[in-house]
Amino acid sequence: MRKQTVRKAVYPAAGLGTRFLPATKAMPKEMLPLVDKPLIQYAVEEAVDSGIEHIIIITGRGKSAIEDHFDVSFELESLLEEKHAGERLTVVRDISEMADVAYVRQKKALGLGHAVLRAKDLVGREPFAVVLADDVIASSVPCLKQLITVYEQQQASVIALMEVPKDRISAYGVVDAEAVNGSPGVFRIKRLVEKPKADAAPSNLAIIGRYVLAPEIFETIERTGPGANGEIQLTDALNNLLEQKPVYGLKFEGTRYDAGDKLGFLKATVEFALMREDLGNEFRSYLQSLHLA
Ligand code: G1P
Repeated sequence: MRKQTVRKAVYPAAGLGTRFLPATKAMPKEMLPLVDKPLIQYAVEEAVDSGIEHIIIITGRGKSAIEDHFDVSFELESLLEEKHAGERLTVVRDISEMADVAYVRQKKALGLGHAVLRAKDLVGREPFAVVLADDVIASSVPCLKQLITVYEQQQASVIALMEVPKDRISAYGVVDAEAVNGSPGVFRIKRLVEKPKADAAPSNLAIIGRYVLAPEIFETIERTGPGANGEIQLTDALNNLLEQKPVYGLKFEGTRYDAGDKLGFLKATVEFALMREDLGNEFRSYLQSLHLA
């Protein structure tokens, strides 16, 4: 059988972003900028750098800024052309030329599983990625590429995992898993639970927002009822998928920031600014001048 490669990535982006109010009252949280680039662009660039060709964004009401962002901005381009602002023009053009982007509406925010199911027709019968844009990951090899490599070895679904302290674990999906011999960082998953109480968590290994999924997940989501917070959870669907197919996890290499959270967003902003060639040095001197105790 020919091994299938991963060509499509799904971005659930219909959520209301209540953790970041008031900034997200009229602006999608996916458009919050880290330094000068919206979160969703980092997430799309990660996929493109991982070999993904088709981007599918699941949107909802009030999210049109995302569509405008990846579209051609005719007025802006001609203005920059007139001003001979070549570098800025390239920055703007590159965004619309980056990838082929399609949009599907999720009319009601019924959960992550429900959002992913909206992509069923556009994905078809092939493996695909799911990327949560508020999990920002800085790494030398893109996190999604690390997962795709494991998918290609195992020919089964793979999810990103990270160790999380016990007092934070109830904010995540958590797995019960055993290490795969001879494959560092790779785990075979035995059970998944969405947002367990700290005492009931099967381990300290939390799910982070990167997944490579077999297409059977769509039928599994269809038969998954509401779970934590009354929502149709992708984690529950993956737990149900285990009855039919293996699921793997990868403790990826890299640093993850929860940019959907105010403190996580601030940390990401500082560290991404420090990494920038054009801003890093000056910003570092500024931070040093604060003489924080
Ligand atoms: C979602 C997933 C959860 C995962 C988390 C990672 O939860 O449902 O399993 O651990 O993303 O960021 P959310 O943060 O949307 O509540």
